[in-house]
Amino acid sequence: MEGPRPPQPEEMADVISFVDQQLRPQENWSVGEEYPQAFHPNNVKNIRIIRDEKGIQAHALMKYSLTKTPVGLFKAAVIGSVVTAPEARGQGLSRSIIENCLTEAQTQGCDLAILWSDLFDFYQKLGFELAGQEVNLLIEDPWDLPLPPGVRFVKDNKVASEALLKLYTQHRVGCIRTPEDIRNYLRIPNSHLYTLWSANNELLAYAVEGKGADLKDHIHEWGGGVQEIILLLTQVRRSLGRPIRVMAPAHSQNLIRQMVSHGAKTQNGWLGLIKILNLQNILGKVHRYARTLGIADLVLENSSEGYVLGFGENLFQISSEVDLLRLLFGPHKASHFKALDSQTATTLEELLPLPLWFWGWDSV
Ligand SMILES: CC(C)(COP(=O)(O)OP(=O)(O)OC[C@H]1O[C@@H](n2cnc3c(N)ncnc32)[C@H](O)[C@@H]1OP(=O)(O)O)[C@@H](O)C(=O)NCCC(=O)NCCS
Repeated sequence: MEGPRPPQPEEMADVISFVDQQLRPQENWSVGEEYPQAFHPNNVKNIRIIRDEKGIQAHALMKYSLTKTPVGLFKAAVIGSVVTAPEARGQGLSRSIIENCLTEAQTQGCDLAILWSDLFDFYQKLGFELAGQEVNLLIEDPWDLPLPPGVRFVKDNKVASEALLKLYTQHRVGCIRTPEDIRNYLRIPNSHLYTLWSANNELLAYAVEGKGADLKDHIHEWGGGVQEIILLLTQVRRSLGRPIRVMAPAHSQNLIRQMVSHGAKTQNGWLGLIKILNLQNILGKVHRYARTLGIADLVLENSSEGYVLGFGENLFQISSEVDLLRLLFGPHKASHFKALDSQTATTLEELLPLPLWFWGWDSV
């Protein structure tokens, strides 16, 4: 066996054919189209393979994402397309590939790694835990909200990426993207863009449903003003003719409230499987954010028994790493920790959970 190592550029056709065969045997498109940024020639250095004389036996890749949040920038290694050939399973190949990815991600200054999978036990063995928050909103029955005069609803992926980027960048939290990234995302098979336009052709809101083999009937990307998004979702539900789900970050309180007032049903979920790669960096950002909020005496650091947190002299211990992860990124709230007094919990909740979020197109 040779690797884990990045493929040579001339091996990329073999890599894509291996992943297609293993993960998308039924589809008439390639993973290269489904994850255009991850399998992009610029990202080959973040792909890992193990091969022997018979060919590629295992594969995984990373895509670095620089995510803007009110707390600061977070660099994440988004991991995906993890697969070992059936006859080579159970020999530690995927473990060795993922560990290799995580070491590299740490060297590249990532704060955390994230992935989306049902294989919790497998990823738990590699140090990943479910954390973060997603609110899933189900629009079951159509809403009766008419479009204002002159406002147009359009279902078409042919929209200038610059116009979409203008609305996207208004999100408080999201991975930094270029117009080129969006142009590539718009070509993903089964990814449908819905837009709302003003009478003078200004883009008011957008929503994206589906992405390759995943997220059918799920709006995983949206942007624009809250009222405009509500009008757009009304039209999307009507045009699809069946219930749809909208994925939203927990911090999108206003949109969630308004959707619920129209009858959407909410379900709380996890953001993903997360592994912290640089705790000191993350804690440093929380401390800096605390100071910008005028909180000067925050204590949040490693201790001999785990972690110590609180303010000034009023300090508490957390022994579990998973508790710390879920306190940092949710869904734990400081007030759930019985050991914390209410004053400490209230002040901590001004800071935590950190509003981390990944929009659907950025998942790999
Ligand atoms: C899941 C998969 C990638 C594992 O690959 P692998 O090379 O056999 O895994 P490894 O041999 O490196 O196993 C690492 C550890 O995980 C455990 N493990 C492997 N597959 C597992 C599974 N499906 N569920 C739970 N644990 C699993 C192994 O027992 C091993 O534990 P140990 O180190 O304590 O002995 C492989 O089964 C596969 O390709 N499955 C189909 C594609 C898939 O589901 N990919 C994940 C998409 S997110």
